Amino acid sequence: MGNYLMILSTDIPDSWKYAGDGWGSTLHRICSRTGSFPPALAHYFVKKYSRRGDIVLDPFSGKGTLPLEACLNGRIGIGNDLAPEAYVITRAKVNPVTLDDVMEWIHNTRKKWNPESYDVDEVSGEVRVFFSKYTLRQILSIRDMLMDDDSDLGNFIKALMCGILHGPTKMHLSIPCSHAFSMSPKYIRRFIKKNGLKKPKRDVLKCLLTKAKRVLRDGLPEVRGMATMEDARKLPLEDESVNLIVTSPPYFNMQTYAWDNWLRLWFLGYDYIEVKNKLFQSESKQKFRVFMLESLKEMFRVLKDNSACFVVVGDVKLNGHYINMAEMIAPIAESVGFTVARLISDSIPKSNKHLMYIKEEEGVSRERILELHKGNPIPNNEPVAWAKVPVEVFA
Ligand SMILES: C[S@@+](CC[C@H](N)C(=O)[O-])C[C@H]1O[C@@H](n2cnc3c(N)ncnc32)[C@H](O)[C@@H]1O
Repeated sequence: MGNYLMILSTDIPDSWKYAGDGWGSTLHRICSRTGSFPPALAHYFVKKYSRRGDIVLDPFSGKGTLPLEACLNGRIGIGNDLAPEAYVITRAKVNPVTLDDVMEWIHNTRKKWNPESYDVDEVSGEVRVFFSKYTLRQILSIRDMLMDDDSDLGNFIKALMCGILHGPTKMHLSIPCSHAFSMSPKYIRRFIKKNGLKKPKRDVLKCLLTKAKRVLRDGLPEVRGMATMEDARKLPLEDESVNLIVTSPPYFNMQTYAWDNWLRLWFLGYDYIEVKNKLFQSESKQKFRVFMLESLKEMFRVLKDNSACFVVVGDVKLNGHYINMAEMIAPIAESVGFTVARLISDSIPKSNKHLMYIKEEEGVSRERILELHKGNPIPNNEPVAWAKVPVEVFA
């Protein structure tokens, strides 16, 4: 590694590492999605490197952890991600609705819907394998109702549906399976046969209400933010308009986001192959370098002077070769104008970033956080306190 200052995340006295398991507002738990960083990490950098009223951006926002943490702390959180389900979840977090709104939507839907009129045989076998006919008819009816609804309420219900569509509990609508990613229909077929499973009959509106109550338990953020669905290399933001960036770009092809969310994408009306073709996913070092050059140029453009940009990347092992992504990215960041202030080395629990279909010896072993400066940012002095984040319900 070049001559960069390196520290361990555990050596930072008020580090996110001391936040405790499950730290963070319940709103973070709308929908799980692979490859996300913990809310406590987002909270740490938001508190240390921005002030109330500031604009805080994640150009690869995934499930919107960073922009939500910004809004919860009085900053304007902006999350951008090219994946449709990531956009829906991020928007639900930065522009949420109240439990009363959700309850009213459920009440009105129950009055007017007619799931019996849906023919499940028109749906592909890949989707049908997850649900009973009884449940699938209701899903189809809700899907239809939401398809052209671009309101914040409609979006919030879509995000809740993504969160309950598949998973292991009675609140989930599918056969018991992972809630973090959409499993392969082939695997599910074998799994059902082997274990003699029966597809559960669910009251979808009841499950939606249970989920809404859980995620809205801690109240809503103080501030509303913004979600966009653009390529991170062309952000819809003005020059020098952002006070802080905290982000994590795609790790080569370690996470196959479109495939991992194929069932959610179906629910939202997208074909996962089309989404896959838009997202960055490659094994090629050269393509990754070019992608990062263009993305970092864009981050530098939108960032104000004297501001910081934190980029979380991994040490990945692909096809038998170790790739230290931080080492690759640091000189690229310098070439666009950033100074590499330091590197924070962060061990991750094995369970966090591994997917069951990546071989045991491959995957992400360690993460490193590149602290990049544009000018001379001054961090806040007060230590970050790891009590539960206070949230207020806004009118
Ligand atoms: C490592 S993940 C970010 C996870 C996020 N920090 C979180 O906490 O959930 C990388 C993200 O980049 C998105 N992505 C891939 N190619 C993109 C592109 N060209 N523009 C914007 N987003 C892209 C993927 O959809 C994925 O959500």
